[in-house]
Amino acid sequence: MSSLVPIRFQPFDVDTMAEAAGRVVVIVPPEGKMGPAVRRANRLTRGAVARLVESERFGKAKVGDVISLAWPAGMAAEALDVLVLPRRPDQAEARKAGAALAKLAGGKDLLVMAGNQVRCDELALGIVLRSYDFDAHKTKEADKVGTVTIGHQKADEIEATFAPLYAVADGVRMTRDLTNEPANILTTTEFADRLAEMEALGLEVEVLEEEKLAELGMRTLLSVGQGSVSPSKVVVMHWKGGEQDDAPLALVGKGVVFDTGGISLKPAGGMEDMTMDMGGAGVVAGAMRALAKRKAKANVVGLVGLVENMPSGNATRPGDVVKSMKGDTVEIINTDAEGRLVLCDVMWYAQERFQPVGMIDLATLTGAVIIGLGHENAGVFSNNDTFCNAFLKSAKAEDEGAWRLPLGEGYDKQLKSRIADVKNVGGRPAGSITAAQFLQRFVKEDTPWIHLDIAGVASVSSETSYAPKGATGWGVRAISRFVLDNFETVVE
Ligand code: BES
Ligand code: MN
Ligand code: ZN
Repeated sequence: MSSLVPIRFQPFDVDTMAEAAGRVVVIVPPEGKMGPAVRRANRLTRGAVARLVESERFGKAKVGDVISLAWPAGMAAEALDVLVLPRRPDQAEARKAGAALAKLAGGKDLLVMAGNQVRCDELALGIVLRSYDFDAHKTKEADKVGTVTIGHQKADEIEATFAPLYAVADGVRMTRDLTNEPANILTTTEFADRLAEMEALGLEVEVLEEEKLAELGMRTLLSVGQGSVSPSKVVVMHWKGGEQDDAPLALVGKGVVFDTGGISLKPAGGMEDMTMDMGGAGVVAGAMRALAKRKAKANVVGLVGLVENMPSGNATRPGDVVKSMKGDTVEIINTDAEGRLVLCDVMWYAQERFQPVGMIDLATLTGAVIIGLGHENAGVFSNNDTFCNAFLKSAKAEDEGAWRLPLGEGYDKQLKSRIADVKNVGGRPAGSITAAQFLQRFVKEDTPWIHLDIAGVASVSSETSYAPKGATGWGVRAISRFVLDNFETVVE
């Protein structure tokens, strides 16, 4: 497991600059006005900063750009980073600026001379998110987590507003760790153990084992895991931060710890990426962690279906018919369309047991969503415009791409089975939509529901604004904000 970079806030004091090790950051607004820290840096470097600010390079710099002076004379630091940022940046500008600083620092100590900078808490969040590094399995790499110190005139105030943001960042960290972890380490049992550890945060965590799942009738979920030596599990994480009688919001995650495709085996090229096929469950876990750590005043229950999709003598065959917990029978045409088989039972169970006010499922469900939306947006499907629009607003506010795609009865034709109630694949056309249509069969009419197909955004091969390549933690921030804005009613 990785750890979050620690962030210290201290009173703004220009006398700390000369001797600071690592990198020192000063902030200059685009119009070039030099505040106290910049003037001190300028004096220490005998005018180098003023020349930089007057240069053509600075004139062309954009908000969020960093211009570095290496080994600056008059300072102990190995670099003086001049960050271009208005005094009142918007949230995304502040976060991206922080991320840019963290990327440059690469784990070195960082002293940010923030003065009276507005949205410094958001800048700090950007630093924390982009400082993430999954080096758990690099034996020769030194522990790269440096310390970050932020000097600000209102250090106490910012420390307080930063606390819930840090909680969310820790949720993002957990999601990324789970999603990056290889499948020989993150088995279904290890996954469940890591979730159970969150009881220490005040979550109620319950692990349902195969026997119990069989008793509940979750045959479609069990059919996916039956070829693996790792036992299938459903984990329920309950956060009770709201009024006792309020029904919870339910989050449901696809947790396929490895997806070989099963008997409908995937080709070898790129199969290693299927370690991230538990990304939906990873987001549910990280979101529950964020909510618990920031003590959200809402009731939220997170459920994940943990299975491994393997071929073996026990594995489900193409053509098999299995009965879901709901009672609908499914003809399994392709054992590689396994995510929906896991989700449909967990979603049904979530509704039967908790009667949630709304349900959001997250899954790395289809390759087709990557063809449609690439790596910038998750696919969003919903049966309820109000619920969906509220989520889209939260995702936008958190700068997490999300794009709604249609549902429609017409697509059900593609899922008709000759011998069962439904089949698990609908052919190539509209592959992400037919997957969502399949799931919708298992959503009760009065349950507001959102399905998030995160196959394209959960893990990416080039870095994003807030994350290095690999797992992004997409969705943790959006969900935390969605809960905050829609379910945490402030009672006066
Ligand atoms: N886990 C995959 C979807 C996926 C693909 C996630 C690429 C991340 C990156 C899913 O289980 C799957 O195999 N889907 C099939 C469905 C098909 C057989 C109907 C797909 O998309 O090809
Ligand atoms: Mn699959
Ligand atoms: Zn899968």
